[in-house]
Amino acid sequence: MAEQPVHVAVTGAAGQIGYQLLFRLASGQALGPDQPLVLRLLEVEAALKALDGVVMELQDCAFPLLRDVVTTSDPRQAFDGAGWALMVGAMPRKEGMERRDLLSANAGIFSEQGKALNAVAGRDVRVLVVGNPCNTNCLIARGNAPDIPAERWFAMTRLDENRGKSLLASRARVDVSEISNLGIWGNHSATQFPDARNARIGGRPVPEAIDDEEWLLGEFVTTVQQRGAAVIKARGASSAASAANAAIDSVRSIVDRTPDGDWTSLAVVSHGEYEIPEGLQFGFPVRSDGRGWEVVEGISLDEKARQKIKVTTEELEGERAEVQHLLPV
Ligand code: NAD
Ligand code: LMR
Repeated sequence: MAEQPVHVAVTGAAGQIGYQLLFRLASGQALGPDQPLVLRLLEVEAALKALDGVVMELQDCAFPLLRDVVTTSDPRQAFDGAGWALMVGAMPRKEGMERRDLLSANAGIFSEQGKALNAVAGRDVRVLVVGNPCNTNCLIARGNAPDIPAERWFAMTRLDENRGKSLLASRARVDVSEISNLGIWGNHSATQFPDARNARIGGRPVPEAIDDEEWLLGEFVTTVQQRGAAVIKARGASSAASAANAAIDSVRSIVDRTPDGDWTSLAVVSHGEYEIPEGLQFGFPVRSDGRGWEVVEGISLDEKARQKIKVTTEELEGERAEVQHLLPV
């Protein structure tokens, strides 16, 4: 077993997602069965009492890997020495809202916490932003943390990938483990483009197994785009267990080598790949070697795909313009 614990900061730790996430982190599902960890949990003052209850439950699990738990309402204490920061703490949307409507409520959180990360996080910190709108919140936090390399920031599009894989598996009547190479392009929003036509089923291109371009570019796309809203409508609250699961999957997809020939979905800083404007936090198909990652180049995108990617790009540019005042020049 590795000696040194990794300090993992989780914001919004007493919230719905936090409650589904902490136990899986502490049991080693994200960083592996040999990696001890210290959880550094951030909450607003009013939620610290509830967080104490969650900590009691963590203790009552007697997780062998969990060396310590710190709770605080001070971002600097939460991020002190963090090797990972999972930024979940933010308001969720209600029925009838788009995620972008949360910008005015949530953007300020990410500028403040970006500054705190910059000041005190560990040298190799990696950050996954879950709180919505996650791409632009990540852009804000990154913009306020100039000493943390842009490549260490990720916003979560993995839930969309998982949703799309499930949908393809059910349509093709195969096990979900047969689905690979499903990339989510752009924003974690109703404009995202889940690219089923470049995905594979049992190693074969999806269109060979699902010969229905209208569905692949129509109902499939809109169902994934609208899945978060459908969950809110049905449950009366936004997704939590599946979001925490996707956060675990995201961390694993960064720290593990991507299987040969496959790719995964993460929103990362654009360096101009596929003509996406530089600096946007953009959902791309990504490969990791366990230390670094790269956007997968050379994926074939026809005019219909490019048109959908243009729409989501424009939305992200609009969000960036909206939060310009929070981005240091
Ligand atoms: P929640 O309301 O249950 O929990 C959020 C928690 O964050 C609360 O406990 C709140 O006290 C805390 N919080 C608020 N401001 C904070 C701050 N400044 N510092 C620290 N903590 C703070 O919400 P939830 O269901 O856990 O969702 C959290 C966020 O994740 C929402 O924005 C939601 O839209 C988003 N989300 C994203 C995805 C994704 O795929 N990217 C999926 C699901 C949910
Ligand atoms: C989701 O995709 O389930 C989350 O982003 C929550 C939401 O607002 O849809």
